[in-house]
Amino acid sequence: MQNNVFEWLDFAKRLAVKAGEMIVAARADSTFVRDYKMDHELVTTTDIAVDQYICSNIHTRHPSHCILSEESSPTLDLASVSESTPVWVIDPIDGTVNFAHGHHHVAVSIGLYVGNERILGVVHAPFLEECYWAIKGEGAYCNGKPLLVSGAKEPRNALVATGFPYQKDALLPILERVSRILHHCQDVRRNGSAALDLCWVASGRLDAYFESVKPWDMAAGTLIAEEAGALVGRYLQSSDRWPDVVNGEGLLVSTPGLFEAMLALTNLEK
Ligand code: IPD
Ligand code: CA
Ligand code: CA
Repeated sequence: MQNNVFEWLDFAKRLAVKAGEMIVAARADSTFVRDYKMDHELVTTTDIAVDQYICSNIHTRHPSHCILSEESSPTLDLASVSESTPVWVIDPIDGTVNFAHGHHHVAVSIGLYVGNERILGVVHAPFLEECYWAIKGEGAYCNGKPLLVSGAKEPRNALVATGFPYQKDALLPILERVSRILHHCQDVRRNGSAALDLCWVASGRLDAYFESVKPWDMAAGTLIAEEAGALVGRYLQSSDRWPDVVNGEGLLVSTPGLFEAMLALTNLEK
């Protein structure tokens, strides 16, 4: 499989870069229309077009692989996928609200896992001109430069990112966590793209990140953070809705030196 992995990475990078061009062009011409999924979740015609572009290319090139994609196959039954089948996990636009409002914190996220192992991840931020990638065991990179997490050990020096769900009824415990973090850490950021938050932990711009997210938000970025030296765990007991390898429920990612302290701050039972 190792030889294939480098070829898969090249393929994923090319898809992500082309997808990024589509996103920048749609933003420049304002050629997108807003809509809402499940009444409250913003989606644009560009999310759909980019998803279609990425998924159709994967289908054509790797017809035996599976695709879990936010916009076209979010309910794929992963339990029925064989342990040896590669599964691509796609978020065509991570940061749709930013995209629609003309902010630059937007990314295309493409992850790949097999069985219970994350194999590769690409997170491309077209407006920031930053392309992050990692292969399991091969380190993490941004625009070709190796990434390393910050050496942060003390919560009081830590810059921590999080995010908020579209469903407003889930906010209360999240605000309690944010309050605890604000009291003990340097500050909190809500940048609007989980995939990029994970890459920024990898690059040392952030020291920790926590949020409950979906597989497509975290499949690629979690591997990039891990490969840059971050620890990955959870502050909530997860359900078995998703296989562990792409289960973003209660996701906590931080420098090794901060991990225990962040776990204590985010786990409301402690
Ligand atoms: C969202 C972003 C955001 C996070 C939300 C995600 P989307 O993804 O990653 O940062 O806080 O939980 O749903 O909807 O822009 O793909
Ligand atoms: Ca997302
Ligand atoms: Ca999305």
